[in-house]
Order: sequence, then structure tokens, then C-alpha cells
Amino acid sequence: MRTPGGRSSGECLTRRTALHCLALSMATGMFGEGGPAFATGVDSARPREGDRLVAEDSEGKPKALQLLDIKIGDKPFGAFPFNPADGIKREGSRLNRIILVRFDSSELTPDQLARSADGVFAFSGVCPHRGCDVTEWNDKDRMILCYCHLSQFDPRNQGAVFAGPAPRPLPILPLKSEQSEIVIAGEFSSEPGGAKAID
Ligand code: FES
Repeated sequence: MRTPGGRSSGECLTRRTALHCLALSMATGMFGEGGPAFATGVDSARPREGDRLVAEDSEGKPKALQLLDIKIGDKPFGAFPFNPADGIKREGSRLNRIILVRFDSSELTPDQLARSADGVFAFSGVCPHRGCDVTEWNDKDRMILCYCHLSQFDPRNQGAVFAGPAPRPLPILPLKSEQSEIVIAGEFSSEPGGAKAID
């Protein structure tokens, strides 16, 4: 069997070609077989409106994220942006790492809901203190937590610093949903990354 891009199903077994085949199948669904040309490789450009989000499944294959993949109260879910127009995952820069957390929509204000995709919020996955990966969750206060020096960030208050030494909020990435899919609705609120010189 061959994909719309002419690859055989066997060629889709490696990680790189699986990503390319995912791009082909996603874009074919959205644009039809006469859609835009595709490229391979990685992209360092920051996420932008219209990008989707992908993560690796349990076998290390790329998976386009749906709203149902993100559970209320779970620790941050790691992902990278994916440009469906050219079939490229924006993983060329570590600063494009994104984390997702979810709240019950019924407890959010209209402003909070407007920044989320049905209660799913996206933030930079790189701590603005010294640049560690942000991976943890304070379930009691429902805050995003960086284990390196215990900075905490408030996901319902645009990533504001709740505790710890971080000098600025965790950059937020606005989201929307389209047919149960998580879609990026704009740019990071500020440039992601850690400060260079913090005591
Ligand atoms: S690097 Fe995150 S708190 Fe220091």
C-alpha cells in the first residue's frame, strides 16, 4: 500500500519517515491530494497560528494530539509544534518544547477560556530561570513546577510566577480547538528560554 506521497507502508516504519507519512496523511485530510508540497527535516522557527501539536506515542512514533489526549489534573504533557502546510515538526530548537495542562472548562473565566482549547493551556517547556525542562505539577495548588530550583507558575494566570526564583512568567502559547484537534492560535507571549545570569 502507498501513501498519498508515494511512500509504501513499509517505508513508514522508521521514525523520520513515519513523521513524514504523518505529515502527508494529516495534510491530505486537510487540503486534499492537490495540497501544498512537503519537505523533510526539522524547523527552528517558533510556533505560529495554525500549527498543530505532536508528541511521540509509546513506540516513539509521532502522534497528532487531540483534546482527549490531555487529562484534567495530569502533570504537564510534552509536545512540539508541527506545521501542516510543509509537513515539518518544529523540533530544531529546544526552545520550541511545549507543555500542556488541562482544567475543567466550567471553572475557567471567559478570558482564561479564550487562551485555551476547551480548558487545555500551552506553555513553553523551558524554565525562564535557568532553562531546565519544566515537567512537574503541584497538584495541591494546581501549579506548573520546575524541579531544578522549585519555581512554580500559575497556568490560569498566564504563567505568572507563583513561587521560586524565576524572574518572569512562563511564556504562554494561545490555543484553540478545531474538530477536537489542538491548534495553536498565536505566538508565545514572550521569547522562551532561561536567563543567562541568575544567582
Ligand atoms: S531552572 Fe527552573 S527553577 Fe531554576
